[in-house]
Amino acid sequence: MRVPSDGEIRELHLRHAPSAEAFDLVFTHCEIVARIAGQFSGSPLVRVGALLHDVGVYRLYDADGRLDSANYIRHGVLGEELLREEGLPEVLCRFCSHHTGVGLTCADVREQRLPLAEADYLADTDEEAVVMYADKFHSKTTPPVFVSAATYTVKVGRFGEDKALAFKGMRERFGEPELGPLAAEYGFAII
Ligand SMILES: [Fe+2]
Repeated sequence: MRVPSDGEIRELHLRHAPSAEAFDLVFTHCEIVARIAGQFSGSPLVRVGALLHDVGVYRLYDADGRLDSANYIRHGVLGEELLREEGLPEVLCRFCSHHTGVGLTCADVREQRLPLAEADYLADTDEEAVVMYADKFHSKTTPPVFVSAATYTVKVGRFGEDKALAFKGMRERFGEPELGPLAAEYGFAII
C-alpha cells in the first residue's frame, strides 16, 4: 500500500480547509497527535493515520466560518468519506471514523441518539488504538490545550463507567505521553 507523504497530507488539508484559521487549528492538532502517537509507535501507518484523522472537521464549517458543534460527533464519518473521495485506501479512511472518544458502540449511538448510522466505531487495529489514544492528549479548544491523563480520566468518566474503564485500559497498555516538551514548543498549556 502506498501511503501519502507528510507533504501530500499537508496539501490535502490545505485543499479541504475552508479557511486559514481552520487549517491552522486542525492541521496543528493533527501534527501534535502524530507527535504524541510517535511516542508510542514508530509505525508509518500510525503517523499517517494521526495526520489525517480529523480532516472531517473541515466539512462541519458553514459559509460564515462557524463550526457546527451540534454535529461535531460526525467529523469522523465525514473524514472517512472525504478520504474515500480522495481515493485513499480503506485502512487510512478508517482512522477518521474510528478515533472518537475511547470508541463509540452501536449502543452508544442508539441510547444517546447520536447523529450517526448505528454501528460500532471502535479502534480495531493497534494502529487505530494508538491514534485514538494519542488524540485524547490535545484538544482544539480556544485556545488549544494539552490534556493530561488525569484530566482526561475525569472528563471521560462523565460518559460512563465503561468509558472510564476503556481509557484506563489504554493508559495501562500504552503508558502516558510526555507532554511537557510539546507544550513548551507549541506554547499551549497542559490542563
Ligand atoms: Fe483529533
